[in-house]
Parts: sequence; structure tokens; C-alpha cells
Amino acid sequence: MPDSLNFIDEILHDLKSSGLYNDIKVIESAQGAWVVIGGQKKLNLCSNNYLNLANDPRLRQAAMDAISEFGVGPAAVRSIAGTMSLHAGLDKQVAEFKRVEAALTLQSGFMANLAVIAALVGKDDTIVSDELNHASIIDGARLSRAEIKVYKHNDPDSLESVLKGVNTGRVLVITDGVFSMDGDIAKLPQIVAIAKRYGAMTMVDDAHGEGVLGENGRGIVDHFHLHGQVDVEVGTFSKAIGTIGGFAAGSARLIEYLKQRARPFLFSSALTPPDVAATAKAIEILTASGEPVERLWGNARYFKTGMSSLGFDIGKSETPITPVMLGEAEVAGEMSRRLFQRGVFATKIGFPTVAKGKARIRAMISASHTRDDLDFALEAFAAVAKEMGVIQ
Ligand SMILES: Cc1ncc(COP(=O)(O)O)c(C=O)c1O
Repeated sequence: MPDSLNFIDEILHDLKSSGLYNDIKVIESAQGAWVVIGGQKKLNLCSNNYLNLANDPRLRQAAMDAISEFGVGPAAVRSIAGTMSLHAGLDKQVAEFKRVEAALTLQSGFMANLAVIAALVGKDDTIVSDELNHASIIDGARLSRAEIKVYKHNDPDSLESVLKGVNTGRVLVITDGVFSMDGDIAKLPQIVAIAKRYGAMTMVDDAHGEGVLGENGRGIVDHFHLHGQVDVEVGTFSKAIGTIGGFAAGSARLIEYLKQRARPFLFSSALTPPDVAATAKAIEILTASGEPVERLWGNARYFKTGMSSLGFDIGKSETPITPVMLGEAEVAGEMSRRLFQRGVFATKIGFPTVAKGKARIRAMISASHTRDDLDFALEAFAAVAKEMGVIQ
């Protein structure tokens, strides 16, 4: 009898032979500058834990206190019985932090994109999306059944020429705030101005901008002083905030509408009490001090300058995300393996996360790294790249 799952073996075989197979490492310690893998300490250049909050004692304490008071589970979707005072409090706190009228927390950034996009547009409408937008935006757009038109990466002229050709239904322009694989920042002022001229709604996914851009890490809208001009900001707590969860932020009427229409809000259970309490503590910490964000940027500048002087191509990043451009997936994979042997955990990124021929190692710099850590990483990159002939 033919095996109906044979296609899986073929695909897995192809991934392995083309260097695109994802070998997932198991981390045996808490997140931080160094992690334990296979019983050995490795310098962590992979995580999105930008501000080192994922294992911060204040967040841990907040989570434990919430467990003592509220238990571990939300017990329902928020609209039925899962909105605790904790969740309502976090919605309000996020809105204040983002300097918008209202916010709604959801289970993840991915869910937030699915929730918002499919609520704002439907089959008679159009989405105009940057060609390098995150997978969760692409999936949210597909789910909405709206027509999807793509503009050239971060190119306002291309956005305008696409918008010129759209004349029916609602139109939603969507961009990542900071592009996750390249680290460049969306030209949001121009994007918003053009969208307004064509009567389109605007949405920015600020996943890599939170905790990184703007005053005390308030994100891209704050960075460009565009408060009140972007219709919806989507974000995640899973990166700089150090926890898990996502949110949508904007006007009070937008959030009221999402509470009635956003399907992941209506049909999937809420974040757990410890998630919510730890997230609230992280936002409280950020509101009180910009020091962790400054430390992050200091580290990023130091590492990026070091990599450029060694002769690496680090793309066009404007943020702590540092793509080390290597071209072929095999080269990126081999470099990642050799770095790992030297004590540096830096995974390769290949197709389909980035285009074919644009494989890279994405080094994620965080506030947790010391100068010694960064020097250790620079020495390892230099040694491995010289062995492989990637730099002279
Ligand atoms: C731009 C962007 N949006 C959304 C997400 C998803 O966020 P979460 O991990 O909270 O689902 C990510 C995470 O990789 C991201 O980079």
C-alpha cells in the first residue's frame, strides 16, 4: 500500500541536502547573554531578548505573585470568562506606554496580526503590503481574503504606484516597523502621508521596534513622533519585553471594534496570569528608565562597528539586528556550525525566511552582553570567516 506521508521524507531530504534544514538546539538554562546547550555554555547571539528581561528577577517575582493570587490559567477566552483585572490592567498600561487611546492584548504577536488584519479588511478590500513583511502579516492577509498587492521593500514611490491602481473597497497599508531579517526601519512618515492621500488605513507591526526605538522603547510611532497618525500598531511582548503575548493599539473605537470582531480574541483563550503580570512589570520597568535601551544601542554600535571593520557585509541594518550576509545557505550553515564549536550560538537564516541566495547569520545583540562577550563574538567571527575564506 502506498504511504500517503512519503512526501514528508522527500521534503526533509531536500532540506537537508540543500543546507536549509533547521537543526533546532535545545537550551538547558534560562535566557541570557550565555546559555547552556549540550551541557556547555554558549554565547547567545540568537535571542530577541533585547533588554535582558526574560529572566529578570523583578519579572519572575511578579509572575510568582500573580500565580499566588490568580493561579496559572485564564480558564477561557477573554470575551467569555478570561478577562481578569490583570488583563484589563495590562490593556490600559500598554495604551499609556504606546501613547494611544486604547490597546488590546492577545496571545502572541502572530495572533495579533491575524486578529487585526482579518477584522479590518475582507474579500472586497485590498491590502497593500511591503514585500519583506513578516510571515504573520502575510498569513493574516491571506486569512482576510482581501486582494493582496505587494510594494517594493520600504519604497514609498512603489507604494504610491500600487495605491494608484486600487479603487474599490477598504484599503489597508501594512508594514513591519523594523524589518526582522535586515534590521532596517520602515519609512513610516512617508508611508503614512501617502496612505492618507489615498484614503487608506495604515498598520505597522512594531515587533522589533518595541523596547528598541522611541523614548524608553515606545516603538516606531514614538520614534517618528507620529502619534495619532497610524491607525493600528501591532506588537509583541515576546522580544524586548521578555515574556509572551501580543497586542493591538490605536483609537478607542478601533479597540472596541476588535473586541467584537477579532477572531483570536473571541475564540482563543487569554494569556495566563503569570504572563500578564510579568509583562506588566516589564512595561513598568521601561516606563521608569531608558537605561536598558541605551545599553542595548551602545552594545549594538560596538558590535556592528567591529564587524564592519573586520570586513563583514552587515547589510543595511539601522538597529541592533545584525545580519551577516553570506549568500548561500551552505556557507551560512557551515559558519554557524564552526561558531558553535568556538562557543558562539548564532543560527543561520535561509530560504524561505529570506530569499534564495541571501542566506545569513543574524546576530542579535542585547543589553545583556558585556564588552568582553562582544569581543569574544568578534574574535570568533573573525577566526571562522578567515578559516572559510569569507574575509581576508
Ligand atoms: C515582525 C514580527 N511580527 C510578529 C512576530 C510574531 O511575534 P510572536 O513571537 O509574539 O508571535 C514576529 C516574531 O518573530 C516578528 O518578527
